[in-house]
Amino acid sequence: MELRINSWEAYQETYRKSVEQPENFWDEIAKTFSWRKPYDKVLEWNFDAPDVKWFLNGKVNITENCLDRHLKQRGNKLALIWEPNDPKEKFVRLTYRELYEKVCQFGNALKAQGIGKGDRVVIYMPMIPELAIAVLACARIGAVHSVVFAGFSANAMSDRINDAQAKMVITADGLNRGAKQVPLKRVVNEALHHCPSVERVIVYDCLGWLPQMEAGRDIWWHDAIEGMGRECPAEEMDSEDLLFILYTSGSTGKPKGVVHTHGGYMVYTAYSFQNVFQYGESDIYWCTADVGWITGHSYIVYGPLLSGATTMMFEGVPTYPDAGRFWQVCDKHGVNQFYTAPTAIRALMAYGEDHVLSYSLDSLKVLGTVGEPINEEAWRWYHIHVGKERCPIVDTWWQTETGGVMIGGLGEHSPMKPAYAGYPLPGIQPVLLDQEGKEISENGVEGYLCIKFPWPSMLRTTYGDHERCRVTYFAHYKNHYFTGDGAKRDENGMYRIIGRVDDVINVSGHRFGTAEIEEAINSDGQVVESAVVGYPHDIKGQGIYAYVVCESLPTDKEVARAEIVEAVVEQIGKIAKPEKIQFVSGLPKTRSGKIMRRILRKVAEGEPDKLGDTSTLLDPGVVDEIVEGAL
Ligand code: PRX
Repeated sequence: MELRINSWEAYQETYRKSVEQPENFWDEIAKTFSWRKPYDKVLEWNFDAPDVKWFLNGKVNITENCLDRHLKQRGNKLALIWEPNDPKEKFVRLTYRELYEKVCQFGNALKAQGIGKGDRVVIYMPMIPELAIAVLACARIGAVHSVVFAGFSANAMSDRINDAQAKMVITADGLNRGAKQVPLKRVVNEALHHCPSVERVIVYDCLGWLPQMEAGRDIWWHDAIEGMGRECPAEEMDSEDLLFILYTSGSTGKPKGVVHTHGGYMVYTAYSFQNVFQYGESDIYWCTADVGWITGHSYIVYGPLLSGATTMMFEGVPTYPDAGRFWQVCDKHGVNQFYTAPTAIRALMAYGEDHVLSYSLDSLKVLGTVGEPINEEAWRWYHIHVGKERCPIVDTWWQTETGGVMIGGLGEHSPMKPAYAGYPLPGIQPVLLDQEGKEISENGVEGYLCIKFPWPSMLRTTYGDHERCRVTYFAHYKNHYFTGDGAKRDENGMYRIIGRVDDVINVSGHRFGTAEIEEAINSDGQVVESAVVGYPHDIKGQGIYAYVVCESLPTDKEVARAEIVEAVVEQIGKIAKPEKIQFVSGLPKTRSGKIMRRILRKVAEGEPDKLGDTSTLLDPGVVDEIVEGAL
């Protein structure tokens, strides 16, 4: 199976074909996978409904393509390398055969616990091999997995469980993160007070703790797999059957469940993985993301395994036991492709070069970044100190909703420019639109980034609420998928992603809706209302700045701040903590009551002289107070 483009000329030729004859193009690629029954049509679509179907009536199971298909030739090849949090602990290596058997065994356990095709299973686990096994076992038996990042709070989890109406939760007693250990089962227990749909909880014993287990509902992983066979026929799925739901934040309301399906997601994650990273058969590939996010789904688990690659999973954090850990792990396992987030690079930069210079990093061939715009300084540090000016950097732009990389480099085969994601992958048709929704076709321009033609791994719906999917992504501009990002296209047609143009804040590459954080802040008894904006943060990219109106101005601001932070931690999780909280007597609003976030953003960005016109405000006086009290 060779899907790789191996030169810039080949890219141009392939791209041209993919746009002129998209269906033929994807048909050629899709044919290289193993289908139980071939599809009878490549694509049917309309962006109004929206209604997008790929590889119609094809029967397939993504795990057969991740595992079974490789057994003959790659049965003894390493599928997964797991590096523990503690470097002194032994790492784990699983061959394709071993991974296959573990997935089958756990698939059988899931069935024995009453899970079947179409059932939703929430997974809330540490970054251990069992997380990947649980994900694949769900897919194998046709259950729909929904991984919830293990940093979310009980409240955030119960919202997701209830939205998905999950029948089962798979978790662990706790997890290791750097020098800390974090209880997981305790959080699950709390969440499940409000989740009547959950019938079973499977608990992996990761730390040897003895969490509270509820009789009749909870079962240990090792008991669940006891006596289970190591063969488990994959459930035959329709190409358009649900593979997973992944919750992500938008500009309004609660996070929504982005839905991906077996066929299209399979084809695109494999194709993009092989091209972006230029993975070669004996390479070792490492993506440092967590499987709780889309990057981990597509480029730790599915994309690499579909490609027969050796993929590495890391339990720990970049700074434990010291800021050289990433580089130590690269040398230890001979990593060839390394994929991380700008926020991690910036955090490590702050510790100085010495850590990275102590390792050879000879094995590295391609470096990748994802999740947020990378600033030039971080790009250069990565290029010079990690890549020794030898490794291309692929800056990959994509989203939970797109399933796979949309704009990015192709290893050494595409031009690079710091802070530019670059060119679209074959089959991807990005456009820039102006305020009126008109396509700007020339180069050297900025606009709203949209996609005008479907691609196989695009979201199909938002779970349980198709209208929300339509309104959020397809109603802004007719016949276009709207990304929520603004972008610039340079004279040569390269794209640079500027950032979100909606009310979404990207903190360390993680998305939060301002509405969601405000709701959490407002749950604190003393708060009357609040408005949240992002501001530039040296390490996190963006930090969260909250303007809060209380019944009366708090006498002890520090105590009041701590309470508000606690409310956010409880409602969402530590990852959404506001960095700055400014108490104000009112928010700048228009006469119709709309909060003027533009003004709040400028103040938070430290540019109070660029507020623009404030004369239409209901009470222009509050602006002076806000500017004066800015943090
Ligand atoms: O704003 C863009 C930013 O992250 C958003 C998507 O977030 P999420 O769905 O959580 O997925 C992150 C990992 C794929 C985008 O709308 N973003 C992602 N990658 C980049 C980026 N911004 C700039 N450059 C990137 N390479």
